[in-house]
Amino acid sequence: MKNIVLFASGSGSNVENIVRYFQDNSKVNISAVLSNKKDAKVLDRCNNLKINALYFNRNAFYATECVLDILRAFNPDLIVLAGFLWKIPENLIAAFPDKIVNIHPALLPKYGGKGMYGNNVHEAVRANNETETGITIHYVNENYDEGAVIRQVKTSVSTDDTPESIARKVHELEYEYFPKVIAQLLEVE
Ligand code: GAR
Repeated sequence: MKNIVLFASGSGSNVENIVRYFQDNSKVNISAVLSNKKDAKVLDRCNNLKINALYFNRNAFYATECVLDILRAFNPDLIVLAGFLWKIPENLIAAFPDKIVNIHPALLPKYGGKGMYGNNVHEAVRANNETETGITIHYVNENYDEGAVIRQVKTSVSTDDTPESIARKVHELEYEYFPKVIAQLLEVE
């Protein structure tokens, strides 16, 4: 059995998609979803999906080993950041080498770094008249959006696209590819 722990800060549509993708797979267990936002929609989704959900605050994350202890207890084979917006502290990266992956809604190294998340990314892609964008699934290191790339998938951007329509295209790629890449990493396909 492979254990996955997910981190999310917002809506959690990727979390829900990943949970549904693996729900009939007897080799995969979604141990828990951890969130840094007490009122995040992802916590409601977890409630409906009957998935363990835990909230932690900034102090617990950066000034204590509380999250590390929780993660160790779940013994994760993979830690998946699915719309998680805080930087991962070094103690977690050191404890789980090559076991933390993130999805970014653009073609890194473009449109990465602090402040580049969600719609900020799609607005910047639109403002710069890019002709393509996409998703990047990558390992997490101590710098935002800089770990080794695992998979990138592109989609085209036309002059008719708005940040909202770009977001929809990117989400579709996320829903299609993120669970598959997770399954490949865990070797449970
Ligand atoms: C996703 O598009 C994800 O790629 C992005 O946040 C969104 C979360 O959506 N992540 C980042 O921007 C990380 N820098 P969701 O909560 O509906 O899954």
